[in-house]
Amino acid sequence: MDKEQKLENLHKKWIQECECDLKKVATQAVPGFGSATAQIMFIGEAPGKKEDELGRPFVGAAGKFLDEMLSTINLKRDDIYITNIVKYRPPNNRDPLPEEKSACRQWLLDELKIISPALIIFLGRHAMNNFFPDLQISNAHGKLLIKPFKGMSTKYFLPLYHPAAALYDGSMREILILDFKKIPKILKEIEKRES
Ligand code: URA
Repeated sequence: MDKEQKLENLHKKWIQECECDLKKVATQAVPGFGSATAQIMFIGEAPGKKEDELGRPFVGAAGKFLDEMLSTINLKRDDIYITNIVKYRPPNNRDPLPEEKSACRQWLLDELKIISPALIIFLGRHAMNNFFPDLQISNAHGKLLIKPFKGMSTKYFLPLYHPAAALYDGSMREILILDFKKIPKILKEIEKRES
């Protein structure tokens, strides 16, 4: 079975089995989306209004900004895989609760196992703190983290500010754009370390 088929089966299984309480209030699940053979996997926080309507991650304003930044490094949405730590929209876009993150965690880890990307990029502190609970996004953004986790083949992580937070904050926006431009060099560095 190829990776695409495996991902499709995975999402079908978790849409049935996920026990996240947000399932009761969300329109539908928003599974990860994109290339099953991507080198880069982006992880966001949780779906917003537009994502909840369409069942696809990052299709609203933050997603458009993300697409603009991807194009500055010659990447398209089809080249990457993008998902969220929580697969259902929290009411009024509130922060996901710890139990909602836990309920969706295995779904995320299963996606990771199939994609097995060279680099995981965290979009915002929620995604980063899911793996690195002690880090502050204001210090960690734009810096490559190298840490092996049990059962995960990927050990390279790059935290970035969340595009939704940076959209309306001029200085955060500038930092995010600069951090984004580091991605090609970071990928080369990973390739060198792994060869
Ligand atoms: N913000 C997120 O974290 N995820 C989405 O899918 C959309 C906006």
